Amino acid sequence: MEIKPINSYDAMSKLAAKIVAGQIINKPKTVLGFATGSTPLSMYRELVKLYKKSKLDFSKVTTFNLDEYLGLSPEHPQSYHYYMYENFFKYVNIREENIHIPKGNAEDPVQECLDYEKEIEKIGGIDLQILGIGINGHVGFNEPDINLEAKTHVIQLSDDTITTNSRFFKNLDEVPKKAITMGMATIMRSKKIILMAWGAEKKKPILKVISGHIATEVPASLLQLHNDVILIVDKKIYPSSIVTDPLFYPDKI
Ligand code: F6R
Repeated sequence: MEIKPINSYDAMSKLAAKIVAGQIINKPKTVLGFATGSTPLSMYRELVKLYKKSKLDFSKVTTFNLDEYLGLSPEHPQSYHYYMYENFFKYVNIREENIHIPKGNAEDPVQECLDYEKEIEKIGGIDLQILGIGINGHVGFNEPDINLEAKTHVIQLSDDTITTNSRFFKNLDEVPKKAITMGMATIMRSKKIILMAWGAEKKKPILKVISGHIATEVPASLLQLHNDVILIVDKKIYPSSIVTDPLFYPDKI
């Protein structure tokens, strides 16, 4: 894992956007995996800027989002469909038919998962996947458990996730309790992964992710098995002294 401790949220977003832009320039017909949430918001803004100022061309790009709440229609303001269009897609020249987000209101969610996985396979997998991390160590909506699912699936959200994500809803009851998410294998098959983490509440999961231990109770720790992950991380939660301390062991922090 290549670790890039960074000074500001702004710098993290610019660096991630630069890597995404580089990917598109090197391979215009690239397949990107996108995340939602607070973490990548500014990265999307930077990409819109690059489209407007530097003519970064999204016309051949295909995208697959990690996840979507089950039961929410694309028009629901808290759906990830809505988030992606409002924060990104409607400002760049991406083709509608190249955008993929699991349908939260699919009549048959299990079939939707199978179809979604098939679409990713058909195109040859994801070239570059953007990830945030949950305070419980989830990636996508792969929640901590003794078993994890490999492929795109319907998942029961953990109480931690429901509580954390309630900040976007009127109250706890409004938060969907289930979601569709890419599985860990879907994510791990991406050729390259950028994991971004900003803020004090991400310290605990991030230290577990780079601990050298792998546990399904910290799904993001599986990323240590991938050979091309860039972790762009808040310097305050990941001081460079850790990188050089041979006795570093996260449980002691
Ligand atoms: C979102 C997603 C989640 C988030 C994670 C962090 O599509 O898959 O795994 O990346 O919950 O969320 P934020 O960025 O809001 O802290």
